[in-house]
Amino acid sequence: MTDLDPPDTSTGHAAITPRALQVREPAPTDLASRERIFSIEDVTISYSGKAAVRDIAFPIYKNEITALIGPSGCGKTTLLRALNRMNDLIPTAKVEGKVFYHDIDLYDSAVDPVQVRKRIGMVFQKPNPFPKSIYDNIAFGPRVLGMKGDMDSIVESALRKGALWDEVKDRLKTNAFGMSGGQQQRLCIARALAIEPDVILMDEPCSALDPISTGRIEDLMDELRADYSIVIVTHNMQQAARVSDMTAFFTVELGQDDSRTGRVVEYDATEKIFTSPSDPRTEAYVTGKVG
Ligand SMILES: Nc1ncnc2c1ncn2[C@@H]1O[C@H](COP(=O)(O)OP(=O)(O)OP(=O)(O)O)[C@@H](O)[C@H]1O
Ligand SMILES: [Mg+2]
Repeated sequence: MTDLDPPDTSTGHAAITPRALQVREPAPTDLASRERIFSIEDVTISYSGKAAVRDIAFPIYKNEITALIGPSGCGKTTLLRALNRMNDLIPTAKVEGKVFYHDIDLYDSAVDPVQVRKRIGMVFQKPNPFPKSIYDNIAFGPRVLGMKGDMDSIVESALRKGALWDEVKDRLKTNAFGMSGGQQQRLCIARALAIEPDVILMDEPCSALDPISTGRIEDLMDELRADYSIVIVTHNMQQAARVSDMTAFFTVELGQDDSRTGRVVEYDATEKIFTSPSDPRTEAYVTGKVG
């Protein structure tokens, strides 16, 4: 846990100053030499013809944690969903531009969205275990996909990766709804890991959790970084600063017709975004002056 300034009661936000922030050290290599897992190129996503986010372009690097931050409605979830074609499930949604996963154009007609979601898993804001046993929650995906191997070992391995094994190994056959919220969220992360993805997308994964559970998930993310790439949406500035390597700050622009469109104001190493951002709007947001 970080040593933070007391809350700034004028805004209701915890005041964040560079001095008080625990910010990850930037990756040692320069940006160009890092391997990209996604390239987002001029992406505009609309619902019923109205752009929710416009002209988004930035790379996402392998084995790093990338945070998407910004005020409500700026399109963080919309962009996150575009990274594993979850927007396909929304009939009014349209994605323009290109999203490359490694060298694959994710929206190419030859790409099967089910295969995409196998490689790129998602964890949602509210833990959503199935109404099944802990064991069956984890085994569900591997069974559907016909994954080979001993199911007990697959389940144990996923629960270990989800930092949950020791807490649940004696109650695997009990209903997942009997777990605490924090345990349920780690179960959902373990369930996502069970199908051996490459990337995990997390949409405010800790917003329903207490600080202790949040800390456990942050520690888990830190461990997962070695084997996975993670993109996380969070409203918790301390969390973005603590866990992520790169941060994209989004804002909402108001059009003359009162339309609201999200754009990326600044994308950079997390340390830079939180200690010396280039744009005054980023600074105002990360220091809790707006948003
Ligand atoms: N399924 C949908 N159908 C129509 N409009 C949508 C849909 N989902 C999102 N939108 C609109 O797109 C815009 C961006 O929404 P989105 O949920 O991506 O924002 P967000 O940054 O994730 O917000 P929050 O921080 O509140 O979760 C909003 O104006 C929202 O109303
Ligand atoms: Mg959202």
